[in-house]
Amino acid sequence: MKATLNTVDARHPAARQDAAPAIRTISLTFEQGEQVAVIGASGSGKTTLLHAIACALKPSAGTLTLANQNPWAVSGRALQAIRGQLFLAPQTPPLPPRQRVVTSVLAGRLPHQSLWASLRSLFYPSGITEAETALAHFDVADKLFERVDRLSGGERQRVGLARALASDASLYLVDEPLSALDPTRAQLAISSLTTAAKERGATLVCTLHQVDTALASFPRVIGLRDGLVAFDVPSAEVTRDMLHALYANKLNELNGPAPAPETIEQPSQPAVMHCR
Ligand SMILES: Nc1ncnc2c1ncn2[C@@H]1O[C@H](COP(=O)(O)OP(=O)(O)O)[C@@H](O)[C@H]1O
Ligand SMILES: [Mg+2]
Repeated sequence: MKATLNTVDARHPAARQDAAPAIRTISLTFEQGEQVAVIGASGSGKTTLLHAIACALKPSAGTLTLANQNPWAVSGRALQAIRGQLFLAPQTPPLPPRQRVVTSVLAGRLPHQSLWASLRSLFYPSGITEAETALAHFDVADKLFERVDRLSGGERQRVGLARALASDASLYLVDEPLSALDPTRAQLAISSLTTAAKERGATLVCTLHQVDTALASFPRVIGLRDGLVAFDVPSAEVTRDMLHALYANKLNELNGPAPAPETIEQPSQPAVMHCR
C-alpha cells in the first residue's frame, strides 16, 4: 500500500487535545513495497508518526493518503476497510494475558477473515501450522500453546511480530521491534520481517533504536528530530555527522545501551481477576 503524508501535524496518542503536536509539518511518501527505517532519539516522534500512518490517531493538521484515499474523509466502513489492510505492531504488543500464543498469533489474521471464521477460530484455532511457521521465524515456535502471561518480555515481543507476519497486511508499521531482543534474535527478527514484506510486496515502515541495524537492513532511512524530518535519504548516504546532529543532546542513545538480554525465563505470575 502506498502512504503519503502532506504537512501532517499530530499529537502523541496519549496526549491531551490541547497538547502541542509531537510531529509537525511531516511530508513523506512511502511507495508500495518500500522498506523504510525511522530513527531518532526517544521523544522525537517515531511512535506518533507510526500511529498517524496507521489511522490510529487523526492528524491535527495536514492530510494522510492511504491507497489514494484520505481515511479521515471516507465513511466509517471505508475507514475500517483501509485499517484492515494495515498492521500496526506496537512496541509492547497488546496480547490478552490469559490467551494461548497460538490464538494470539492467529488473531493477526482477523481483519482478513469473515466474522464467522473469526468467531470460530476463538474456539477451534485453525491454521495452527501457519501460526507455528510464523513463530518459527522468530525462534519462539516452542511456545505455541503457552499462555501469553507466562512469556518473558522478549518472547512476548517475538509473538507480537509473529502475529504481524500471520496477518495479510499490505502496509506494516512496526514500532521498535528489537527493544527486548538479544543481538542474534534481533538480527533474525529483522531479516524475517524484511523478507516477508518483500515476498508479499508489502510496504514496511519500522522505527528502530539500533542505528546500525537500520542502516544495514533498510535501503531508506528517515531521521526524526523534535517532531520534524531531519533527513530522508538512502541509507548509504547517512554520514556520522548526520547521526551526531540527529541525536545531538542524546549521543548516548546513538551508541545505544545494549538491549536487555533475554534471560527472563521466569514465568510471570498469572493475572488475578477480581470480579464484583
Ligand atoms: N504519554 C504521553 N502523553 C503526552 N505526550 C507524550 C506522551 N509520551 C510522549 N509524548 C510527547 O510526544 C512526543 C513524541 O513521543 P513519541 O512519539 O513517543 O516519540 P518516540 O517514539 O520517538 O520516543 C514526546 O516528545 C512528548 O512530547
Ligand atoms: Mg516510541
